[in-house]
Amino acid sequence: MVYIKDILLATIAISGVLATPVVKRDTATPAASVSYAIPSYLTPVRPAPNPSYYVWPANNTDFVVESLEDFGKQEDPDNPLTIYRDGGGSCNIGNRTIWFFCDTLGYDNGTFKAMTDNSLSVAQSFDEPSLLADATSNSLYSYGWQPAVPYTSEEYPWRNWPSQRFMLWTYTNCFQTTDTQAVQFFHVFKSNSYTSTSNWGNTMAILNLDPNTNTLTISRNEQVTFPNTTYSYGSFASMVVNGVAFLYALDNTYSGGKDVHVARVATWQVTQYNKYQYYDASTKTWSYTQPQPTARRQSAAVMSNWIPYSTGSMFYSEYHNAYLLIYFDNWADSTFKVSYAPSPVGPWTCVM
Ligand SMILES: *[C@@H]1O[C@H](CO)[C@@H](O)[C@H](O)[C@H]1NC(C)=O
Ligand SMILES: *[C@@H]1O[C@H](CO)[C@@H](O)[C@H](O)[C@H]1NC(C)=O
Ligand SMILES: *[C@@H]1O[C@H](CO)[C@@H](O)[C@H](O)[C@H]1NC(C)=O
Ligand SMILES: *[C@@H]1O[C@H](CO)[C@@H](O)[C@H](O)[C@H]1NC(C)=O
Repeated sequence: MVYIKDILLATIAISGVLATPVVKRDTATPAASVSYAIPSYLTPVRPAPNPSYYVWPANNTDFVVESLEDFGKQEDPDNPLTIYRDGGGSCNIGNRTIWFFCDTLGYDNGTFKAMTDNSLSVAQSFDEPSLLADATSNSLYSYGWQPAVPYTSEEYPWRNWPSQRFMLWTYTNCFQTTDTQAVQFFHVFKSNSYTSTSNWGNTMAILNLDPNTNTLTISRNEQVTFPNTTYSYGSFASMVVNGVAFLYALDNTYSGGKDVHVARVATWQVTQYNKYQYYDASTKTWSYTQPQPTARRQSAAVMSNWIPYSTGSMFYSEYHNAYLLIYFDNWADSTFKVSYAPSPVGPWTCVM
């Protein structure tokens, strides 16, 4: 009962701050849902190109970095707190650009005020990518901050503990299923202490935008979508081609992040898990049977690298007439690398 009261206080607090009713937080285990207003900045994207599944030939494959522009620290100039945000991912939905950040810490003149394991901001302009409008880390509530993605009731009691807590972290972009709906995957980690963290798998966050009221609803149908007995599909990268979502996962357990595995599903069936298919690169076939690895399966991987992959982003490039993967090399040396391929399942060529 204490727990339910806590949640009510939390929803009242956030609704007061945003001056828009928070619709609900579903307390049923293990689902969770939360609605809140987001700032109403539009950043319409140009219509996405619609490549065929197999594109050939690639052009302009002499990849060179021609110039670099430093846009500076991403910040909301109206936020009274100084915010430190860990890496995250972006999401286009309903002509808005949303940023999710992982651990987000707020300081007031050098004094620590609040932290949360994820937060949400809206981009104010394409021309100034560092200009944000913070939606969930902009005001303090009696207990701290509300995370952007709702906790399930198992996770909720662990919120905002410095050392023992659940962490919902994302490292890539979402993919859109309709004009106003998108899916973003978050890792589910639980830290038991500062030095011991378990990885439970990942969770699918379904984003629904009401474009008239700028109300965003984020729902999770289950606490863990792809458990740690399989691969975290959609957590490394994702891409939609001809209405089919390709969801990429790193094998961190057995390959140390060097193998990438892929699943696919029609965007309109994204919550129907029996409709997912899993790729085996050694036979070039898709199967409805989800892999339950007990060892490294390098030949089944759609990509395999000599160093660990880290965060990735995948899309079709008209200029290159190829699918591109841009990824961080996991050596914390700010090196990004590029691979390109004629189809979502490769063959992938790593060029830099
Ligand atoms: C996004 O912009 C396009 C082009 O102006 C428009 O057709 C579409 O209805 C907009 N979608 C939303 C959800 O506002
Ligand atoms: C931080 O300190 C300055 C100078 O004392 C003060 O004007 C400002 O209001 C403080 N910031 C906050 C968020 O209280
Ligand atoms: C796998 O997930 C379970 C929860 O489903 C968790 O108890 C366990 O510690 C996780 N294993 C690892 C190796 O993180
Ligand atoms: C790249 O290739 C595509 C398909 O062959 C072509 O339509 C496009 O014009 C090319 N782009 C450039 C910049 O060469």
